[in-house]
Amino acid sequence: MLVEEAIRTRPSIKVFSGEAVVDSLVAALLDAAVWAPNHHLTEPWHFSIVSGADREAFARVVRTEMLAHASGIDAAIVQAKALKERQKLLSAPVIVAIYSDAGPDDRATRENFAASAAAAQNVLLLAHSTGLAGIWRTSAIYELPGVRSALRARPGAIFVGALCLGYPMQRNVRRRRTPAVEKTYWFKSEDLEPHLPDAMDSPVSGG
Ligand SMILES: Cc1cc2nc3c(=O)[nH]c(=O)nc-3n(C[C@H](O)[C@H](O)[C@H](O)COP(=O)(O)O)c2cc1C
Repeated sequence: MLVEEAIRTRPSIKVFSGEAVVDSLVAALLDAAVWAPNHHLTEPWHFSIVSGADREAFARVVRTEMLAHASGIDAAIVQAKALKERQKLLSAPVIVAIYSDAGPDDRATRENFAASAAAAQNVLLLAHSTGLAGIWRTSAIYELPGVRSALRARPGAIFVGALCLGYPMQRNVRRRRTPAVEKTYWFKSEDLEPHLPDAMDSPVSGG
């Protein structure tokens, strides 16, 4: 599959067949993920994989953490939410949670996050091109301390997404996009306001 076709035809898929995804395929997706652009070669991404039978144990960690951090919320409501999360976790054969290192300042942290998001898209595109499918989820459960700890997320690392992957059961998913032209401004020098300084003539102040 050509890159453009993969980009255009990749749907978010939530319903998977029970077929397992072999570890070597997941590893190949992550080997592609790390070719994402990243400023100063910080390589800020970290991947935590939950798959197969281990998903049950992970769902128990999630439930325990949800109950522990739900002060003031009715326990029955939290139990119901935990059950829903468990169903989501078990619905995908593989979950790839991505955390992104914090940088020395806000700007670097944002750059790291952007790079890790690009890595996530690499995973989804390659998965799609190999016949797998997936969805990028951002449930708050991945921010819970015990869940972060279970996934070996580094201190300060920012949760980017949980990519739920498997072989698709859904087909012909309806997708839509606003044409790029409606989101685009083509800069033209003749549109500049006459009072704007000429960059070549004016000293640049500040950083
Ligand atoms: C940062 C991010 C977070 C997302 N979180 C969720 C989520 O928590 N649950 C969900 O169902 N979809 C989530 N999605 C998937 C979007 O809903 C999906 O990409 C969107 O509907 C467009 O569909 P498409 O991916 O098929 O083009 C997320 C996507 C991104 C990029």
